[in-house]
Amino acid sequence: MLRLSSSILASDFTKLGECVARAEKAGVDFVHIDVMDGMFVPQISFGEPIIKSLRSATALPFDVHLMVQDPEKMVPALKECGADIVTVHAEATKHLDRTINQIKELGMIAGVALNPSTPIENIKYVLKSVGLVLIMTVNPGYGGQKFIPYSIDKLKELKEMCQKIDANPMIEVDGGIGFDNAKDVIDAGADVLVAGTAIFKGNIEDNVSRFKLIMGQ
Ligand code: DX5
Ligand code: ZN
Repeated sequence: MLRLSSSILASDFTKLGECVARAEKAGVDFVHIDVMDGMFVPQISFGEPIIKSLRSATALPFDVHLMVQDPEKMVPALKECGADIVTVHAEATKHLDRTINQIKELGMIAGVALNPSTPIENIKYVLKSVGLVLIMTVNPGYGGQKFIPYSIDKLKELKEMCQKIDANPMIEVDGGIGFDNAKDVIDAGADVLVAGTAIFKGNIEDNVSRFKLIMGQ
């Protein structure tokens, strides 16, 4: 099943609750929440207090993308904030297998993210334990960047590896996703499309409808 996850990084923070409510009404499936710590990536975005307060603004699942060093330290608090999916970068945690188990033991869906330059091979042994694999299609840290074309090959490679070992995680793409490349990433194996700029810049309702059309929904 194809899903659309709206990245609030590109929303108008002075109207955050309203933007999320509009995206929900327009038909997005997840709220993508980018947590940045100023260490794993250069910027700092937002953390627990904002995620917690946003919980009352929408019934949509929270798809939390942790771009933080040592993400395991934040996992219990995210449960308290109402997170549904917690995705950590394979490059940011020393003990990825343990961190995945920690997320799952708290009743959340565990996701693993890969930077563009990180090979799929690095997550081969955890593919069966995670509910989601996030393929970064830009270098993490900023919204509004250009999609990296080799991501298409990477998606195909991931899809093949999943089929080969009988793993079935959701495959999520994040960064530079728009109306020009949505079909290409879907054809290459993506199940969850994250979009920030393409949803929140301009008219939210029109933008979501355009995505839904491409997704055949
Ligand atoms: C980038 C973030 C993305 C970002 C996507 O580091 O992980 O979620 O918000 O934004 P767009 O869709 O504008 O590339
Ligand atoms: Zn993200």
